[in-house]
Amino acid sequence: MNKASPALYFIFVARQRTDKVTFLCSECGDTFSRWEGRCPACGAWNTLAEFAVPAIAKTKEPRRSVRTESAPQELASISVDSSPRRLSGIGEFNRVLGDGLVPGSVILLAGDPGIGKSTLLLQVAAAFAQQAPPVVYVSGEESALQVRLRAERLGTPGNGIYFLPETNIVTVLEHLEKASPTVVIIDSIQTMASPDLPGGAGSVAQVRECARLFIEWAKSSQVPVLLTGHVTKEGNVAGPRVLEHMVDVVLYMEGDPLTSFRLLRGVKNRFGSTNEVGVFEMRETGLVEVLEPSRLLLSGRRENSVGSAVVSVLEGARPLLVEIQGLTNPTVFPAPRRTGNGVEFQRLLMVVAVLSRRLGLSLATQDVLVNVVGGLKVNEPAADLGMALAITSSLRDESVHPTLVALGEIGLGGELRPVPQIRRRLVEAARLGFDRAIVPSNSGSEDVEVPGIEVSAVSDVRQALRLGLSQAKRPSGRSGSEEMEAAHLGGGS
Ligand code: TYD
Ligand code: MG
Repeated sequence: MNKASPALYFIFVARQRTDKVTFLCSECGDTFSRWEGRCPACGAWNTLAEFAVPAIAKTKEPRRSVRTESAPQELASISVDSSPRRLSGIGEFNRVLGDGLVPGSVILLAGDPGIGKSTLLLQVAAAFAQQAPPVVYVSGEESALQVRLRAERLGTPGNGIYFLPETNIVTVLEHLEKASPTVVIIDSIQTMASPDLPGGAGSVAQVRECARLFIEWAKSSQVPVLLTGHVTKEGNVAGPRVLEHMVDVVLYMEGDPLTSFRLLRGVKNRFGSTNEVGVFEMRETGLVEVLEPSRLLLSGRRENSVGSAVVSVLEGARPLLVEIQGLTNPTVFPAPRRTGNGVEFQRLLMVVAVLSRRLGLSLATQDVLVNVVGGLKVNEPAADLGMALAITSSLRDESVHPTLVALGEIGLGGELRPVPQIRRRLVEAARLGFDRAIVPSNSGSEDVEVPGIEVSAVSDVRQALRLGLSQAKRPSGRSGSEEMEAAHLGGGS
């Protein structure tokens, strides 16, 4: 082998390296033996690309685990105190992690570009650097000056945070070995690349291999590593989903970039529950924890406004009160338009269909717009009734009672179906001063007896709308036709 020319040697190594070709989905990371236009695993289009499997696993010497002491141990004999978690000092972040960072854990923070991942992690870095420096912040995206300026904006001097602008993972790991940090931040995993692999940074193979190396390093050094990952729309850069099964914790940062509300959602957590959601507001000075999200979401609500209903949705384990707005307007198009902002479009179509067909509301000539305030996304069927109330209120120009909260899934027959964890939602509503609620009649009676809130249990959407709208103070100057429609709502269709 030693006598072979460099070119022959290269071919030999290359053949050894890439002996098998598969097709890899850049969305979910699944592999297939042949190309298809649509990924059979996740259903994404045009995401399969040819990928030569690096034969790292095929070298003569089997790869060994980093940890050598791998004798079986009785569970009961393992000390639970041996892994103290590090608390970040940012309460909402700790809440989602399930009480701080576990030593040697790898956390993936995913989200759309520009949503605030780097901002949050710089704040986290500052919090940890204050308690236990040094924290190493590796960025393949921004220059030292950019990050320094951001730190300035966040009001942190940056003491104890060591910035490394580097994309070569071998160099990064060398520096990490030397620096012995307490926490490592990699922003982002898609900019890291290993020189041992073909293909540029961001390819599925590179992203996976770099993540694997960081995971190995984290486990052997017992230092927690936080990775950021952009959600990508095109297939040429691997999305964070290809890493979800490898890392210990996956957090998603969500929110409408045009509004300041940000949700940090745990979707996987090997050390705690994924039921927690952290709420932040993006301000000039960075992300600020929101301790009373419902109050913030409802702060701009006008009393007695037409086309506005409040629902109580569950974000993880936490109930949030959100305002759903509806607007109907005579259409100028041959077919009326339906627009949903923050609600699932199919559910909006279903609610509109039920209102037209079961209640006889004349929506066929109206454009219908539904908006969830604060850029929040409400995917729960429990919000159906709120949507129906907001639309009907706008159509009839009648306001919904200002301190009413509406809960219920609407069935195609116009029936109201129960919603899970109703008590929790009502307790939160009562705490925020809501004194009336409309709930589905088949909810458990002990679940809906909440002090301070008068609950009306109804079995169908017609009754619910009659109650929700008639309890309100009616704006003056209602037309005769609206009176008729109101009567129509009350009687049979
Ligand atoms: P960033 O953390 O860079 O997003 P990501 O890393 O997810 O791509 O945040 C980008 C946005 O946040 C940018 O539009 C500016 C805004 N921002 C603030 O509003 N306030 C701040 O203090 C900072 C640092 C950023
Ligand atoms: Mg960033």
